[in-house]
Formats: sequence, C-alpha cells, structure tokens
Amino acid sequence: KDLFQTLPGSCPLNTAKGNWKITVVGVGNVGMACAQTILTQNLADELALVDVEPNKLRGEMLDLQHAAAFLPRAKIVADTDYKITAGSAICIVTAGARQKPGESRLALVQKNVSILKSIIPQIVKYSPDAILLIISNPVDALTYVSWKLSGFPANRVLGSGTNLDSSRFRWLLADHLDVNAHNVHGYLIGEHGDSSVPVWSTVNVGGVSLLQFLKDNGTPCSQAILDEVHKKVVDGAYEVIQLKGYTSWAIGYSVASLVKCLLRDQRWIHPVSVCAKGFHGIEDEVFLSLPTQLGSSGVVGVLNVPLTDEERKKLQQSAQTLAAVQAELDI
Ligand code: NAI
Ligand code: 2OP
Repeated sequence: KDLFQTLPGSCPLNTAKGNWKITVVGVGNVGMACAQTILTQNLADELALVDVEPNKLRGEMLDLQHAAAFLPRAKIVADTDYKITAGSAICIVTAGARQKPGESRLALVQKNVSILKSIIPQIVKYSPDAILLIISNPVDALTYVSWKLSGFPANRVLGSGTNLDSSRFRWLLADHLDVNAHNVHGYLIGEHGDSSVPVWSTVNVGGVSLLQFLKDNGTPCSQAILDEVHKKVVDGAYEVIQLKGYTSWAIGYSVASLVKCLLRDQRWIHPVSVCAKGFHGIEDEVFLSLPTQLGSSGVVGVLNVPLTDEERKKLQQSAQTLAAVQAELDI
C-alpha cells in the first residue's frame, strides 16, 4: 500500500513547472555562502554542488541535507562528476584560488583561467541552455574567458561584477545618512574592485539627487570627499580578507539577488559584468559591469545610463586595464 491515497476521481498530478535547478561549482567559502542563501531564500528545487575535493563535497552536501527540516524543500546533490549538473537553469562558478591578504584580484588570473578550462566545457556539455554566472576572481576577465570557452550567446554569460561593490557603496552612504540602504540608489560600474567607477551623478536617496541636494543646501561635496568614499568601498574587501581571510556573506547575498532575478524573470536592474564592447565608447571586447536588466533569458538589456565625461573616461580606463590583462591570457 502507498503511504498516501489519491482522492477518487482525481486527475494525474501536474508536475510541469519552471526549471529551478541550480549548480554551484566550488564548495569553498563563497560557494557555500551562495548555496546557503539560495536554499534559505527558496530559490532552487534542486541544488547541484561540484568540486574537485570529494570529501569536502560530501561533507558540505550532508551538512546541508541535515537541515532539511528547517529549510524550504530542495533536492541537494553533490559529486565531482558534472553529470549531476545536467539540465541546470543557472550554473554559478565560484571555484578557484582566492587572494591572500594584500594580493590583488588580477594576480589570480592565469591560475583561475586554467581551472575554468576544466569547468566550463563540462557545464556546457550537461547544461547547454544554462545561464553562466561567474564569481571567481578576477571576475570580469574570467567572465570573458567563460564566454569564449562556452560559445554561449553573450546574454547567457554574466559575472557578479560590481553588484557587490555597489552594495558596499550603498551601505556606506546609508549608514552615514541613517537611511535604509534599499532607498540609496547608485551604481559602481566598470571593473569589480580596484578600478571600479562610482556613478555619483546618478546617486539618489528616495529619488532625491544626492549631489544636487548637497549643493542646493550650501554643502557641496568636494571631489576629495567623493574619492574617499570610493576608496572605502575598494578597501572594504581587502580589510575583510585581512581580518577573516576571505569574503563570503556579502557575495552570497549578492549572488542570491541575481539568481532570484534571473529565475523569476524579475527584470531588476543590477550592475553586473556583461560584454561591454560598444557601450560608452568602449572598443575592446571586455566584460565590465554596467547597469543591466536581468530576466529569465539572462541579460535583457543594458541601461543607457548618462555618464559625465569624467565617469566615461574612468570607465574606458577600466576597460583598457582589462583588455591588457586579457591580451596576456592563454585561453
Ligand atoms: P576557497 O579556497 O574557499 O574555495 C575554492 C574552492 O574551489 C575549493 O573548494 C576548491 O576545492 C575548489 N576548486 C579548485 N579547483 C577546482 C576545479 N578545477 N573544479 C572545481 N572546484 C575547484 O575560495 P573562496 O573563498 O570560496 O573563493 C573562491 C573564488 O571566489 C576566489 O577566486 C575569490 O577571489 C572569488 N570571490 C569573488 C567575489 C566576487 O565578488 N566576484 C567575492 C568573493 C570571492
Ligand atoms: C570581494 O570583493 C574579494 O572580490 C572579492 O569581496
């Protein structure tokens, strides 16, 4: 006898639903922060974890499975074999080396390109229709590499980019102004990290332009003050790495926000790393963060955000830095 009995005259169960299978490659600090935020926010029906360390992989899988009575229902699988990732809607790549204290993200590039070469073809083989979401650093160069290695259309390959930096920026301003960070709108664009560009001209609090407001009230911000705020954002990651060895929670929540928008076709605008050639005078085939509308097909469109001459110049410099890094890569 079955445990449950169907009602007389009931029709067969409708099992058709959206594909909410998500793969996370790399079960280190970042991969597990992503897994944990995805599960607690009920974003996945199935979560597949992949890594090269079988014991760590199985340990992390069991540890999450043991929380089944406290979490939304989701199937959690883990293996070193990419077979388990088959048919994923989104594949998140967090595998690879991370920075040592004081080390730049760009210093990781060649090591992590080699790692991507073993990952991306496997993802493509088992999930040819997936959206690739790259997190490993340097995220912009690695998103470009993943795009090349996958052969996917550009709208299905994106990097978490400055979604995280922008949250750091919004938090700093919100903390200073004593408002909710959700009401502070503003982006950092360009490279994730050192050469990111704050688009001060668009920063607003609940719709009120911050710079205009300060000017109208006789307290205009000097460039030195604006640069100091940006420096705090850039230094933020280095400080956390110095203190605890890695960053994880903020990127985990950043990734969950992107996954939610993609899977549920939310059409939010997020600053994420996309193919930036042709935008704001960028001539190189580089991936950089721009305010981008996301939906179930990946990138829906890039917002035509007006930039000042200074902001455009800095963005172009960021693009040139990345183009120079990419030119050295053995893909
Ligand atoms: P971690 O060292 O804790 O974890 C890395 C994991 O990758 C390990 O479990 C390792 O076994 C696995 N791995 C290595 N080679 C692999 C391969 N070929 N296939 C599958 N798995 C493999 O490092 P953590 O802290 O998780 O950082 C991971 C990456 O994320 C780093 O590159 C880091 O810089 C980056 N990161 C990016 C952020 C962003 O905003 N884009 C934020 C924070 C970290
Ligand atoms: C972060 O910004 C290290 O890229 C990493 O947290």
